[in-house]
Amino acid sequence: MAIGFVSRYGPDPLSVRCRQGLRRAYALAGDSVDVWVTMRIRNAGAQEAAALEALQRRSSDIWEEFREQLAAHPDAIEFPQRFIDNGWTRVATVGDETPVGFTVVIPGQAGTHELDGLFVEPDHMRRGIGRALVEDACERARRGGAHRLEVTVGPAQPFYEKLGFVVVEKVQTRFAPAMRMRREV
Ligand SMILES: CC(C)(COP(=O)(O)OP(=O)(O)OC[C@H]1O[C@@H](n2cnc3c(N)ncnc32)[C@H](O)[C@@H]1OP(=O)(O)O)[C@@H](O)C(=O)NCCC(=O)NCCS
Repeated sequence: MAIGFVSRYGPDPLSVRCRQGLRRAYALAGDSVDVWVTMRIRNAGAQEAAALEALQRRSSDIWEEFREQLAAHPDAIEFPQRFIDNGWTRVATVGDETPVGFTVVIPGQAGTHELDGLFVEPDHMRRGIGRALVEDACERARRGGAHRLEVTVGPAQPFYEKLGFVVVEKVQTRFAPAMRMRREV
């Protein structure tokens, strides 16, 4: 069974329920069918910090080269409540209100906003959620008066290149060398 995503930027609970129900019904019947599942992107809720931090840990763990360091330094991952309170966090959901990915964008100086975090739930990777979250971040940055979005990137560099980001400089992070990348918005 192939499952695709339709991006929606507003609440559409009825169609979400229908599509999810359909998907489950076909899966139970063992039938072969293509189903489109609706994805939504919304602002993070005030109570979601702990859930998003846990998602970030699971997501970061896909990079084998950093797994050991992250386990040894759990403080390297934290999700401050102000990321939500300041309206900087956008959450992708599929099917219900459970987050499957999120972005944190921090407004900066001179027309540059910082993509401070982008994390997708491992079971939902490679289905277009990361791309949709980046497009949402670019659009909101543009509407917020920014000219460009910048990000510090490690092993996800090929993903950002696909989405039109270019390398601007090499930098050193706490654990490894990384790239600063930029996209005009
Ligand atoms: C990087 C990440 C956000 C990508 O999210 P995703 O939902 O899997 O990405 P998408 O499905 O939207 O992929 C968009 C495109 O990038 C490609 N892509 C995704 N991950 C890739 C990777 N690791 N290497 C190369 N290409 C990649 C996809 O194939 C797709 O290309 P296509 O449109 O030609 O098919 C996700 O892997 C993740 O959360 N990783 C762990 C945390 C992380 O590293 N975040 C970035 C911090 S800077």
